Amino acid sequence: MKNKLVEILNKNIPSLDKQTIDDLIEVPLNSSMGDYAFPCFKLAKELKKSPVVIAKEIAEKIGTVDFIEKTECVNAYINFFVNKEQFVKQTIVPMIQQGEKYGIDKSKSKGNIIIDFSSPNIAKPFHIGHLRSTVIGNSLYRIFEALGYNCISINHLGDWGTQFGKLIVAYKNYSSKEAVEQKGIQELLRIYVMFHEEAEKDSTLEQQARDYFTKMEQGDEEALELWKWFKQISLKEFEYVYNLLDVEFDSFNGEAFYNDKMAPVIKELEDKNLIKVSDGAKIVELENMPPCLITKRDGSTLYATRDITAAKYRKQTYDFKKCIYVTALQQNLHFKQWFEVIKKMGYEWYKDLVHVPFGMVSIEAEDKSKPAQAIATRKGNVILLQDLLNQAIQKTKEIIEEKNPNLEDKDTVAMQVGIGAIIFDDMYNTIIKDIEFSWSKALNFDGETGPYVQYTHARACSVLRKSNIEEYDISLIDFDLITDEASITLVKQIGNFKSAINDAANKYEPSIIARYAVNVAQAFNKFYHDNAILVDDQKLKYARLSLVYCTTNILKNTLYLLGIGAPIKM
Ligand code: ARG
Repeated sequence: MKNKLVEILNKNIPSLDKQTIDDLIEVPLNSSMGDYAFPCFKLAKELKKSPVVIAKEIAEKIGTVDFIEKTECVNAYINFFVNKEQFVKQTIVPMIQQGEKYGIDKSKSKGNIIIDFSSPNIAKPFHIGHLRSTVIGNSLYRIFEALGYNCISINHLGDWGTQFGKLIVAYKNYSSKEAVEQKGIQELLRIYVMFHEEAEKDSTLEQQARDYFTKMEQGDEEALELWKWFKQISLKEFEYVYNLLDVEFDSFNGEAFYNDKMAPVIKELEDKNLIKVSDGAKIVELENMPPCLITKRDGSTLYATRDITAAKYRKQTYDFKKCIYVTALQQNLHFKQWFEVIKKMGYEWYKDLVHVPFGMVSIEAEDKSKPAQAIATRKGNVILLQDLLNQAIQKTKEIIEEKNPNLEDKDTVAMQVGIGAIIFDDMYNTIIKDIEFSWSKALNFDGETGPYVQYTHARACSVLRKSNIEEYDISLIDFDLITDEASITLVKQIGNFKSAINDAANKYEPSIIARYAVNVAQAFNKFYHDNAILVDDQKLKYARLSLVYCTTNILKNTLYLLGIGAPIKM
């Protein structure tokens, strides 16, 4: 029905293409404003008329159309009132026909999109800042994949840099093979913190660390062996977290991977006359921002040098349509700078580099009078992600024991719900916002949370189970029976699934999916509250169940897009 409306509008507004019209059409949730609304603001400039006048003119041109019962202009909007039965039918028929596949295009036919996310630093703990990158990146991966792109997930590990020099010195001074083998990252963190404490008293330590890093860069075997070992230990722990989160990477090519690939890029920058030498360092000067540092005075390369090199490598290897970087907002300048360098190098595809920044996470202190805890690796004041996730699972298990002790497979459910709560909480607000994580908020089953959406899904599953219907036959559904207010609102919500995905992708904003999930869950709960489903009237029961069936799939897929599991019992 929306497609038909797009056709009609397109005929009457030739200057806008169908896709633009499709994107502009809104579905007002308040039915007094119609079932579809078309805003005319965009046309005002081009037609040099007020959008209010334009709305009137277009509405007159369209006149009456079969499936539209009424057209009304309200300010700059044209509101279309459709035939409810047809509306329900057109919305849910494809959902029934396509089942779980509805709205999820797994064809991978639209080209490659790279998502560079998570990217923790080796030998430093995986903290909740990286959690945000991980869950946001994973969600963007699934969102773009659902739109038909072939997504490539890259973990640009921070596995090179002066911190390894520090770690080697720290290891030699304060640790042992056994301790590292036994305690893993915890031990590496302990000695990393200790190094910084000691370095304040003993100024030679920093120099020793720099020397070790230089050795690494020169290929010193002993130093490189240690580095490799630290990397393995870290990766093992990261792997544990990725498994819990159900996140996979296509590539772990991190910073070290580009060590032997930077020289030609630096040469290219020189050949293109972009390099200026300043105080021995090589820089690229930029307009309206500080220069981008390419090599330091001692010749060593930087984070940006590796990113420029990696971008070129990725373009060659994957010919990406987009390369998306998910990091904390603090790295904004870094990305702006080196994107500009790519532009100066003459690569048109600088336009396809996208930085998706997110705000900081802090954790509400147990004692509420204390400030929330920030994260600072050097001071050791970090909340390990692993601990956070395990705590979430544990707390959820306690809730299950209390509320539903006979639930089957409690451990799996506790894992899906506990982790779902954290993931959801990370993406419920516009991602640029700072968040303060609170246990009671995230694990609330009634609030706007992951568990609430999961619980709604499980509830819908339970209704379907009781009905024993395996497959819905469209010809047996009397769509007129699901045109009451609550049903229509639910149909509208589930009908928004595809546009929510598009919107989230266009804005790089998984929170649109999280909000959408809550909207669907709320509409379903209202529908469920207002309408008995398993009623004696067979026709009515069948029609309502078909709507429950569609909603279940939409909720499940919505959770999937967020990277959250959908247990069928809770
Ligand atoms: N390792 C970096 C950090 O922990 C993030 C890397 C992001 N990716 C990139 N290509 N720069 O902050």
